[in-house]
Amino acid sequence: MNIVISERADGNIRIYPYWDEIKNMSNVFPEKLILKIDKDKKYYSSKDQIKRYFIEGNDISIINFGEKKEIDLESVRQFISIAYSIAKKEFFRNINIFLFPDEWGINKKDIFNAAFESLMLSDYRYKGFKSKKEEVFHIEKVVLVISDPIEDVEEIFKKNSIICKSIFFTRDLVNGPANVVTIDYIENICKTLAKNDKLDIKILNKSELKKEGMNLLIAVGEGANQEPRLIELKYNAGKDLPTVCLIGKGIVFDTGGVNLKPGNALDDMKSDMAGAATVLGIIDTAANLKIPVNLIVVIPLAENSIGSNSYRPGDVVIGYNKKSVEIKNTDAEGRLILADALSYSDKKNPDIIIDFATLTGSAVVALGTKIVAGFFRDASIRDKIISCSKKTGETIWELPLFEEYKELLKNDIADLSNIGNPPREAGTIIAALFLSEFVINKKWVHFDIAGPAFIDKESYYNPKGATGVMIRTIVNFFEKL
Ligand code: BES
Ligand code: ZN
Ligand code: ZN
Repeated sequence: MNIVISERADGNIRIYPYWDEIKNMSNVFPEKLILKIDKDKKYYSSKDQIKRYFIEGNDISIINFGEKKEIDLESVRQFISIAYSIAKKEFFRNINIFLFPDEWGINKKDIFNAAFESLMLSDYRYKGFKSKKEEVFHIEKVVLVISDPIEDVEEIFKKNSIICKSIFFTRDLVNGPANVVTIDYIENICKTLAKNDKLDIKILNKSELKKEGMNLLIAVGEGANQEPRLIELKYNAGKDLPTVCLIGKGIVFDTGGVNLKPGNALDDMKSDMAGAATVLGIIDTAANLKIPVNLIVVIPLAENSIGSNSYRPGDVVIGYNKKSVEIKNTDAEGRLILADALSYSDKKNPDIIIDFATLTGSAVVALGTKIVAGFFRDASIRDKIISCSKKTGETIWELPLFEEYKELLKNDIADLSNIGNPPREAGTIIAALFLSEFVINKKWVHFDIAGPAFIDKESYYNPKGATGVMIRTIVNFFEKL
């Protein structure tokens, strides 16, 4: 897809945004179009509504943007993604999308960033395994039409291509079926990534994990054919720069273990390594953009499977930081592998620790598929990350590390239970509190991405399946660190 910016449209397929103050817009909209829109006022009642006109040989689609006061970068991304879907539906190979940053009071550079990003993210398709290659329609050329375009778009384009390429890499990994994206496969992907991006890599296999005392990670992986492991990747930006440790849950498939998941709860469990894929996407972007932050990525990898050697409810396991855990439910496995990865990372004393995990079904119940649950120990880091997320449109909602609920994790014979008692209360918070027992670092952040990491229905520039959520927000955050 060729994306260009121009003061003039090229061709007759034109897509315009509509917003409430359009009546005074004769300076930006063709007169004839304004007249038509005025006549069809009733069509412009709800956001995202599309109306099509044919005027003087031009095929014009209007997409309702809503109210001017609500227009922000995310509405631009959404508008662009709808324009993209119109082109796809109508088999338009060349389209013109009109943008009016001056009218909206939004910085041009930010608008182009959002527009490029949305076009590229919308254009993603998972390749899949169909024996007959399907004819996939791709748009050839998009002209972003704007008065007074800025000059340095090449740089914006390059940067966004790098970020989107990493997001596609993450999406491909998460969309990949669990019989392909195995523990060995991810290990190989990490080796290739290390080579291409010049990262240091260290892999701990099962016997090394045993030596280190990462028994929680080992326990979760016992039922599976491929052994659990821990992968560590390092991106070195410079000695005097801050070091951030990124941890991602890497469960290649979550059957629930002996506490087997029922029926369709198993459906999307190939995506339970989305946290791992996310941190790989972030380090790939950082290395390619040469972002001035040192990164340590830590990925605990295991398959939560069932076999004669599986860990069981009632087992007591002592983790890397010597705390003992009674397994009350083998389906609460993510927090166990993260516990070892967190205390292992904590020992390195980085400036910030951030983990990403498809950790709880409760997060999906509480916040759905468009909001990430965020837990923060440090208010200034929270404010910075949330302000970045407002720019990227990846919504984060803070949940509390509510100390009083730690009591629910108390256990008769061990330091902790791996689920709360009663089990159904405040599931996302309980999981976060469990993790908090394994990190001392005051600048620890935890994201439960169970909802938005993998979606059943496309949503604007996120196609069905893996989204790559949080990569853009965290890269943005690094740039402001
Ligand atoms: N991987 C799941 C969480 C999940 C559920 C992610 C749905 C994406 C969609 C996690 O390992 C899990 O099974 N959590 C349990 C915990 C419970 C046993 C305390 C859950 O949320 O039901
Ligand atoms: Zn589980
Ligand atoms: Zn899981």
